[in-house]
Amino acid sequence: MTLTDQQQRLAIDGGTPVRTTPLPWELPGAHWIGEEERELVDRVLRSKSPFRFYGIDPQFMVETLEREWCETYGYNHALAVNSGTAALSIALSALEVGPGDEVLVAGYMWVSCISAIVRAGAIPRLVDIDDTFCMDPKDLERKISSRSRAVLLVHMSGAPGHVTEIAEIARKHGLGLIEDCAQAAGASQNGTPVGRFGDIATFSFQMNKNMTSGDGGMIVCKDDVLYRRIVAMHDLGYARNDAGRFDPEDTTCQFWGIGARMSDLAGAMALAQSRKLGKITGAMRSAKWRIREALSDIPDIKFRHVIDPNGDSGPFLIMTFEDADICSRFMAAVKAEGIHGPEGSLGCLPMRDWGLHWYFNIPSLTEKRSNTRDGFPWSHPDNAFASQIDYHRGLLPVCDDLHDRSGLLSIASILTEADVDDIVQAIRKVASVYFNR
Ligand SMILES: Cc1ncc(COP(=O)(O)O)c(C=O)c1O
Repeated sequence: MTLTDQQQRLAIDGGTPVRTTPLPWELPGAHWIGEEERELVDRVLRSKSPFRFYGIDPQFMVETLEREWCETYGYNHALAVNSGTAALSIALSALEVGPGDEVLVAGYMWVSCISAIVRAGAIPRLVDIDDTFCMDPKDLERKISSRSRAVLLVHMSGAPGHVTEIAEIARKHGLGLIEDCAQAAGASQNGTPVGRFGDIATFSFQMNKNMTSGDGGMIVCKDDVLYRRIVAMHDLGYARNDAGRFDPEDTTCQFWGIGARMSDLAGAMALAQSRKLGKITGAMRSAKWRIREALSDIPDIKFRHVIDPNGDSGPFLIMTFEDADICSRFMAAVKAEGIHGPEGSLGCLPMRDWGLHWYFNIPSLTEKRSNTRDGFPWSHPDNAFASQIDYHRGLLPVCDDLHDRSGLLSIASILTEADVDDIVQAIRKVASVYFNR
């Protein structure tokens, strides 16, 4: 069949779009909410016991979730919390990070990573990324100083970067390593699940993540002492006894907690979702890699380097173009072909519309904002060493460049074969006009 002129002309130029029905929302876990979630949530409601530690007839959903995570992914300890942001704060406090310390973090991340460091009283030391869109180990080595205390390694957009090398660098320099796996639940690298490379790892179960309980998260770690600190800090600062009551007499656990417990209702949802995580990520991974392979002969589109495709959790396809102008025009043209989700979703966009994921788009960082009147932590005398750091654009050349030249396509977890074909067809159609391919 030969295409008519109207079909060949790009939709952005008035031609017929490849499709007119929106693709599904990007929210990966949400599409899979079903009877399993309902059954477990109902069980908690029927028992009138939505608190994880005690109640009329507790169902211990959160505890079961934590146990299954340890069994499934090989973690020593897992503790569910109420958000990924809280998980990061707790992880930093557990490692005793505070004023006078620097935490190394990549410039492509999420605002929560920076806010957790700043609220801990420490200084974010930004590190550049490489073609994995995760921290560049070479730049990490360059940025390590006598102030460095920990590395916050964020597995961005579904897959880890050079995690083994970075773990080795952290070990060599005696730095704590926190993996932020919020965007990569269910991912792995060469057979090792994310969260097993560092000292502590955090996850988010917020709505946009690979599995969801609406809000929620998880902290995993190896060390028993660290785990006790984490448990106390996520709660009200103290350990609990077997009956679930506080034990303030235990002098090894007397801290300031942040009230980030997961309720058993959220635990029920997270448990049901967690049992589907492999299927959810499997669906995204296979759709994403089918698209990548079908487009692999177009040299003008460079795909993000994923070190181990088998361990990619698959929620995003990242494409990089020759320059910023072609990137913006290409992504707009693909979107015009009908490659986007329903109104309000973020399915197809240039990275410049990806907001608080990029360091220079975070005004509270560039303007060094504070939650308190004294300007803490920027004004803290122990942080005087960092007074000259300027977080505006220009600090990280690779970040700045990839931000300008890259676009992102969300891969919904329920794409059909026909949806995948449409995505491939739309990208090929735009490439045929823009690149003459
Ligand atoms: C990399 C990263 N870290 C942390 C978070 C924070 O998670 P939450 O929204 O559950 O607080 C998110 C997501 O929102 C994230 O993408």
